[in-house]
Amino acid sequence: MRGEPIDADYLVPARYDQYYGAYATLPDWFPADLASRGEVLELACGTGRIAIPLAERGIEATGLDYSRQMLSLARSKAEARKVRVDWILGDMRRFETGTQYGSILLLHNALWHLHDLSDFEECMRCVLHHLAPGGCFILDVFVPGLEILNRDPGERYPFSRYRDRETGREVPVTESYRYEADTQIARLRHYREDSDEIVGGLNLRMYFPKELDALLKYNGMTIEGKFGSWNRDPFEPDSRHQLCFCTATRRRDDADGRSGRAPAELDQDSVRAGASRGSDTGRTGKRSRNAA
Ligand SMILES: C[S@@+](CC[C@H](N)C(=O)[O-])C[C@H]1O[C@@H](n2cnc3c(N)ncnc32)[C@H](O)[C@@H]1O
Repeated sequence: MRGEPIDADYLVPARYDQYYGAYATLPDWFPADLASRGEVLELACGTGRIAIPLAERGIEATGLDYSRQMLSLARSKAEARKVRVDWILGDMRRFETGTQYGSILLLHNALWHLHDLSDFEECMRCVLHHLAPGGCFILDVFVPGLEILNRDPGERYPFSRYRDRETGREVPVTESYRYEADTQIARLRHYREDSDEIVGGLNLRMYFPKELDALLKYNGMTIEGKFGSWNRDPFEPDSRHQLCFCTATRRRDDADGRSGRAPAELDQDSVRAGASRGSDTGRTGKRSRNAA
């Protein structure tokens, strides 16, 4: 991931919301569960599809993302709905907000953006550093679907649609999908209808169930519960989701000690596409709390 640009789909956030819906549908138990634990940090929060509905339920929420464009739409959506969310322009592998959270979220497959082992390790170290005692790290990522991974890279598949701002016309989007067995990364390209005009793309690192369990375990997390759906069905052979509730196995100090570098010393090279030091976040990703 390091050195790669921000995925093209995240440079046009209005389309992202049309692809997936402006707000995620959250089951009632979820905000209630979070509210019982206190302040929430959502990593890779995108356009606020989750953080904003949480804030509307009265939860103190912070959203962190490294796409300036996604955060800008998130901010204006929150303002329009008159809710307060703290938005941080930062990298989930190297942030320091100066706060500890009762829950830290990494939802809607955002884990797929941690491509390498070092990306995963750095992110988990930051999560451990920011989890309040007894706090919960909540992760939701699809089980890789073998029928999807086996797609023909030369084929086009229906993906979604968006409204063209100039013509007002609904534009169908098709997708090509190439899965690399060595990196476990799926390279997706999005095209305007059946043409060769590329309108976006994503590079997504798949996480297989036992691999994910091991990575969490060996990066200081205890999986307290793993569910196969947002109805909290058990994780089973046909499950589509990996919804994991984790607590810290290691103490916070141990997590910090494992890294040779403190978050404040890490550079912001991977905060690309216009993210600058001293803007929303400053060098460390830390900013004072203020209204959205
Ligand atoms: C699937 S999208 C948004 C997920 C969001 N939770 C939702 O439900 O819409 C993933 C987001 O991850 C962000 N992202 C990818 N890599 C990141 C990184 N290293 N640090 C912070 N954000 C990152 C992208 O900019 C994008 O907004």
